[in-house]
Amino acid sequence: MRDDHDEAPVIVVDDLWVDRGGRTVLAGISLGIEAGAVAGLLGPSGCGKSTLMRAIMGVQVITAGRVTVLGEPAGSPSLRRRVGYVTQAPSVYGDLTVWDNVRFFAAVLGCTKSRIDEVIHAVGLAGLEDRVVDNLSGGQRSRVSLATALVGDPEVLILDEPTVGLDPVLRKELWGLFHQLATEGTTLLISSHVMDEAAECTSLILMRDGAVLTKTTPGRLRADTGERDLSAAFLAMIERGPR
Ligand SMILES: Nc1ncnc2c1ncn2[C@@H]1O[C@H](COP(=O)(O)OP(=O)(O)OP(=O)(O)O)[C@@H](O)[C@H]1O
Ligand SMILES: [Mg+2]
Repeated sequence: MRDDHDEAPVIVVDDLWVDRGGRTVLAGISLGIEAGAVAGLLGPSGCGKSTLMRAIMGVQVITAGRVTVLGEPAGSPSLRRRVGYVTQAPSVYGDLTVWDNVRFFAAVLGCTKSRIDEVIHAVGLAGLEDRVVDNLSGGQRSRVSLATALVGDPEVLILDEPTVGLDPVLRKELWGLFHQLATEGTTLLISSHVMDEAAECTSLILMRDGAVLTKTTPGRLRADTGERDLSAAFLAMIERGPR
């Protein structure tokens, strides 16, 4: 068991404020994510999950506050190989095959050919290597995007709604993969607006209207609210308001 007191959190967000389109969309967010966590970032559409992830990746203009990843300021060039990011809209080359998309990132990062096979297999795309990405389903395309983020074996993975549009069997498999990566020491931050995925996380960050309602665990959230169902527990938290 890892002792959280031994080391600083891998991701530290300190009083982060972000304005977009003339509106405040993140209003003083502070949180820490520990090494080896499978941290879920959950909250309704528009609450600011993707914006927070962009700030953690250092690609979001911020108004105030500080974000550090692996002890470096977010977006530092030294973090490029250490942090993998899958955006909400899959960012892959539609006119290339699955294999060539992953190979492109593998070449940039200096990975082996066997590593390409490994990640394509891990995301459940074995057999589709030669298919052009534009001819794949939405769920398959998002898994190509995930494979490109995994190929460099990053220490931190930021995944923006990676399981949207996937069937339950595939979702289960991907959560299995995320837990396996965490066991190997990867730290994962995964957004979702589907509360039933919260049960898969080792820690939960519940957001609403640009603020963190609470940082908790599935077990603690159930105990605090007296609700077994995590969607009902989240609603109870919202009714209770920030504490
Ligand atoms: N490019 C943009 N310009 C202006 N405002 C934006 C832009 N992108 C997002 N916003 C606004 O910022 C707020 C937070 O958006 P964000 O995409 O971070 O939410 P989200 O929690 O990821 O939502 P979803 O679950 O729908 O992906 C929303 O009010 C949204 O309308
Ligand atoms: Mg989003």
